[in-house]
Parts: sequence; C-alpha cells; structure tokens
Amino acid sequence: MNKVKVISSGKALSADIEGIDLSKALDPATRATILEAWSEHLVLRFRGQKLSDPDLERFSAMLGPLDKAPTYSKGVRTDVGSDFVTVISNVVENGVAIGDLGNAEALWHTDMSYNEIPPMASALYSLEIPPVGGDTGFCNMYQAWETLPQDLRQRVSGRLCVHDSSTNSVGGLRGGYEAVTDVSKTPGARHPMVITHPVTKRECLFLGRRRNAYIVGLPVNESEELLDAVWAHTTKKELSWYQEWQVGDLILWDNRCVMHRREDFDSNSRRIMHRTQIAGSKPYGRVSATTA
Ligand code: SIN
Repeated sequence: MNKVKVISSGKALSADIEGIDLSKALDPATRATILEAWSEHLVLRFRGQKLSDPDLERFSAMLGPLDKAPTYSKGVRTDVGSDFVTVISNVVENGVAIGDLGNAEALWHTDMSYNEIPPMASALYSLEIPPVGGDTGFCNMYQAWETLPQDLRQRVSGRLCVHDSSTNSVGGLRGGYEAVTDVSKTPGARHPMVITHPVTKRECLFLGRRRNAYIVGLPVNESEELLDAVWAHTTKKELSWYQEWQVGDLILWDNRCVMHRREDFDSNSRRIMHRTQIAGSKPYGRVSATTA
C-alpha cells in the first residue's frame, strides 16, 4: 500500500513528502504521488534520507535524463567521481576547495538559465550543514506573474531578457569571461520574460538572475528601471519559502517556475551539498514581433 504523505508548508510553495526511502527503487504509485505533489507544490522536501551519489542520480533520473554537472569555478576540485553530481561546499581540503559557491550569499537565480536549454529541475542533498545560516529560499514564479501589477504585466509581456552567463550566483566571474560593463552587451541566452510551463501550461515569470540582466530592445536605463520594479515584486517575502537544512534533507525544485537563493554562513563552519540537475527544454512563451 502507498503510505506516502504530502504535507504542504502552507506558504507560497513547498511540501514535505513523508514515508519514502529514496535509496530504494520507487513503485509506480509512489512515483505518481511524487510527480503530482511536485506539480502542485513546486518544491518537495524529503527528510531523513541516506543517499549515495548513485542513489541521488537514480532518484533524479526518475524525472528524465540528467544534465552533466556545470564547469566548476577556477581552483575547485573536479574529481568527485560522477559526471552528474555537483559538489556545493565551502570546505577546503589540503588547500583545495572540494566544491563550488563557498560560504557567500547566493543571490536569487534560476539554475543555468544563461544556457539556451536550462535544466528543468535540480535536486540538492545535504551531507553537512552549518549550525547557523546557509538556509535556501525559493520563490513561486507563477504567483509572481499572477500578482504582478497590471502596468508591469503589460510592460514585460512579449519581452525577451538576456540571462548573464559571465558571473555565478555568488558574483564570481566564470572562466573565459570579461566583466560586463554595458548590460546591453551581456553574454548569455535570451528568454521570454513570461514563459509557459511545458507540463502545467501555466504562465510564469522567468527572470534568471538580476545581475547584468537586460531587456532586449529597451534603452539601458528603462531596462534597469523595469527590472528593478519586477524584481522588487518577485522577491517579496509572501511569494517565498525558506528551507532550514537538516543533514539528510533532499530538496527537489522545479527550475522552470521557481527561483532560489542561499543565505551566507560563517566561513569557519562546514556545509556540503551534492546536487544533480535534470535536463529541460527550451523555454517558450510570450514574445512580441517587435522584440524577437
Ligand atoms: C544552488 O544555488 O544551487 C545552491 C543552493 C544552496 O547551496 O543552498
């Protein structure tokens, strides 16, 4: 019998899924329950898991083929033993960082939306957590669109935005890039600002990341002003939920309709997470002839 429980956080998004050991193969009824809950709550949390990297990969692959891990920042060890697992950590061993993103605040972002085809989902599993800080916030981009004031809806509707590929979410310059000085020349994919989720067919805002973003076709000052207004709305507290980590938590989020950020934490604490990403499809949505 399927004894799985889905318990909503009661916030703008997220639910706990109880009664599942993700290290074991999942039967079709359990898989169906997870997928239905994911579609409704956008972020799922599975507590008390004990997962090896192959377990994490097998669970993530339930949603589809995995994306290869992105290139690490310079100086980070890359021999983690899997092409599909990214280590997110501030821990340094023998003078070498064992993972990416350090201990700094990671600003709101969609994973790898600077690519033409960003991942559809990410799964993040906690192995070590700091005693204080390092919480991960998620925000509901369906609600961000649905509650956006009418004048802003009209102004972003049909527009494309450039998603910066030159810096990561903690502000580090990626290898091979120059710092952006004119956002109208920001490198990275252009995506509609309002996309249609390919499964639910609901519309949501798709912003990627604020740093170096640019709305195609607008004067830079107008693009900046409009982006600031839309971001101020999207990152309102009532559209978000924060994950306070415990060791053994696995969080699965829908990268198409959710953004996330991470709070900073003390550099003397240790935090180790393993992440997988599931391949997505090209975002599509409202594009007007004048901006395409
Ligand atoms: C990420 O941005 O994928 C990592 C989030 C986290 O470390 O909590």
